[in-house]
Amino acid sequence: MLLAPTLSCPTVPLSNGLQIPIFGLGTSHDGGYSHDAVLYALTECGVRHIDTAKHYGCEEKLGNAVRESGIPRSDLWVTNKLWPGDYGYNAAKKACLDSCSQMGFEYFDLYLMHWPEATQPGCSNRETRADTWRALEELHEEGLCSAIGVSNFLVHHLEELKEDCSVVPHVNQVEYHPFQQPNQLMEYCRQEGIVFEGYSPLAKGQVLNNPTVLQIAQKYRRTAAQICIRWSIQNGVVTIPKSIKKKRIQENCQVFGFQLEESDMATLGSLDDGRHVAWDPTIVE
Ligand SMILES: NC(=O)c1ccc[n+]([C@@H]2O[C@H](COP(=O)([O-])OP(=O)(O)OC[C@H]3O[C@@H](n4cnc5c(N)ncnc54)[C@H](OP(=O)(O)O)[C@@H]3O)[C@@H](O)[C@H]2O)c1
Repeated sequence: MLLAPTLSCPTVPLSNGLQIPIFGLGTSHDGGYSHDAVLYALTECGVRHIDTAKHYGCEEKLGNAVRESGIPRSDLWVTNKLWPGDYGYNAAKKACLDSCSQMGFEYFDLYLMHWPEATQPGCSNRETRADTWRALEELHEEGLCSAIGVSNFLVHHLEELKEDCSVVPHVNQVEYHPFQQPNQLMEYCRQEGIVFEGYSPLAKGQVLNNPTVLQIAQKYRRTAAQICIRWSIQNGVVTIPKSIKKKRIQENCQVFGFQLEESDMATLGSLDDGRHVAWDPTIVE
């Protein structure tokens, strides 16, 4: 049997000593799921990091794709996310076990609270987040989640969690692309030892027609997608583009053989217009 290639992909150290691959494959429900594309990413492109969530509705299919790839589970980084409907201490524990069983895995490398807003009647968001986080701390202690983190959390959500709980999240996964650069949040995460992970690195495709991005792409003889992914990675951000097309997955992986000059990094850094293509958590108390 031929061994699947491994993408020569740097890793980023988490505060608990684990190393998360800086490049991963997104699998959100937007645009659907493709078994063949996931298999191709794993076996032909050497991708070893997959980002998913219960909310995306593909846990079982993804677990099957991983097994079909023949890649040992221990060689992969799998991130999953807890949906707010499952927040609260007991519900969170059950949901994590259910997700493991859906995927046929014994553990997740990283398990995130998907969104800072809670839906528990009679409890504040802050109380529910803290209750839920305590469950994640225990899942981490028990080894079901090698690392735990949050997603879409702003500084005040993280500050409250720090006051209420013991483990500082290992990761915060947040929208990040040239149009959306939450630099203060990134700086806060850096100071607190929280790895910053960026989602929607292509702004769901919106950034790919930007004339500045296209001009830089032309200069490096790369595609606009590769420029955006490279820019994110070169900023030290864990980056998880999604595609269900094999050719694009291969294209998106080819971001390690070149470097953007400082001036081009700065030009891309000036494109922030505050736009969100996913969710805007600023309204969440
Ligand atoms: N934590 C959260 O709240 C949260 C929120 C959003 C996303 N995420 C995670 O982040 C991942 C990535 O974000 P995203 O899926 O929202 O957006 P994205 O990766 O910025 O963009 C995906 C879109 O771009 C297209 N695309 C991908 N590569 C391309 C290329 N090389 N050339 C042209 N078009 C290309 C895809 O279409 P095709 O599939 O047709 O190629 C898809 O429509 C998600 O899948 C999910 O895992 C997390």
